[in-house]
Amino acid sequence: MTTDQAPPPVTRRATPRWRADLRLGTRIAVMRAGGLALALRGDPVARLMHRPWRLDPYPTYARLRAAAAETGGVVRSRTGINAVATHEACTAVLRDRRFGVRLADGRMPFDPTDDAGSASGHDPTDPGTALIEPIDLSLLALDAPDHTRLRRLAQPTFAPKRLAQYRETARTVTGRLLDDAAAKGTFDLTTDLAAPLPISVIAELLAIPDVDTPRFARWGRALGAALDGVRSVRHAHALSRATADLRALFADLVERRRADPGDDVISQLVAALDEDTLTLDELVSLAQLLLVAGFETTTNLVGNAVRALQATGTWDDLAADPGLAAGAVEETLRFDPPVQLTARFAHEDVEIGSRRLRRDSGVLVLLASAGRDPAAHPDPDRFDPRREQTTTHLAFSGGAHYCLGAALARMEGEVALEMLAERMPGLRPAGKIEPRVATVLRGPVHFPVRAD
Ligand code: HEM
Repeated sequence: MTTDQAPPPVTRRATPRWRADLRLGTRIAVMRAGGLALALRGDPVARLMHRPWRLDPYPTYARLRAAAAETGGVVRSRTGINAVATHEACTAVLRDRRFGVRLADGRMPFDPTDDAGSASGHDPTDPGTALIEPIDLSLLALDAPDHTRLRRLAQPTFAPKRLAQYRETARTVTGRLLDDAAAKGTFDLTTDLAAPLPISVIAELLAIPDVDTPRFARWGRALGAALDGVRSVRHAHALSRATADLRALFADLVERRRADPGDDVISQLVAALDEDTLTLDELVSLAQLLLVAGFETTTNLVGNAVRALQATGTWDDLAADPGLAAGAVEETLRFDPPVQLTARFAHEDVEIGSRRLRRDSGVLVLLASAGRDPAAHPDPDRFDPRREQTTTHLAFSGGAHYCLGAALARMEGEVALEMLAERMPGLRPAGKIEPRVATVLRGPVHFPVRAD
């Protein structure tokens, strides 16, 4: 190339991207530093978002429940975020129709790329914000009536009669994964069992051909981490790539099913598309939610269960009686749930205890804290797979957004634990667990174990 040539277009594109990265990186760093400062000064809500406190959030939840006792439910933090931490207050907010997942006028509450961190949505003309396509969480980010319409369309996928078929798949896949793991000696519970199992089941549910498991796991990790907000420029790029790949995958699948319909959920949704009860964007987002909600969570359930069973010595009870698996799953959901919290926004002024929440204020609903509330669960810090669950835990949330895949997740967790206990009764840790660096999702990213 000679020097008198016009600058190539790539140079012109590279500059805004570089500036966008810098700007986004700076914004993330400033927000994190502000939060960390509050965490260091003892603010419990800020502590939920930062190391080292978030590695074990349960003492912070206990503090929040104690503070809530004085206010009758809602705790306000210097971060400007409200939180509910007791079983009673969490249940009340989840079931209260005056709360939704959007603002009262239907706008999205906040965007990780929003300058003010306020409710104003993102500015597509700002290169720092244009870098990231906001993730569309489908049902999780919709209020009625759109939520009701879409949920009805998704519900048949989870009908009890289908569960038996998925159980067969789960057993076959688990058997194969355990054969491979046994051959290795020391293996990684997360990457060799807990992640590929739900990916295979959800791929069958969506009838996705030729599943590339490591690629799916990567998408799931990027999107799952985004539930905490975008944590770095690198993460922002991974997120954009994952979203674009998933959109392409499902757009292609829609075309295939239209040409050759089957008995799967995508074929059913394509029919709704053709009847005009669903748009293509809604279909793609819903399929994406089913995919990601379906495996990141269940992966953590299996990891958290084995970790708790091993740490409390109750693994031996399960090994002696694999029939305890269902109880161990239920106790894990109460004691150390994969989804720690969610959020709701008041659609009008609401009073909870002595606190008034103004219209559009957000409130974190600490599902995991509710599971450790002594007012709902006797001796809550003790893990006991034989516990009689007298109060329903909130691991699957409650109200309009109650998890659609709860029965499927319970079944997969039970199959994994039961078969592990039958085939590897001597299972024990074989190294340090690497925890997920996250606030919303909780579980081991790597969990080395041995079976002999
Ligand atoms: C242990 C595993 C799982 C846990 C802990 C879990 C937890 C949750 C929670 C807490 C919510 C509601 C969030 C909120 O209220 O804002 C939810 C919603 C949802 N979950 Fe799950 N989930 C699990 C497994 C699954 C599976 C296997 C699927 C499907 C394949 C699934 C599909 C969904 C869907 C579609 C929603 C949205 C429901 C709605 O907004 O109406 N989940 N899940």
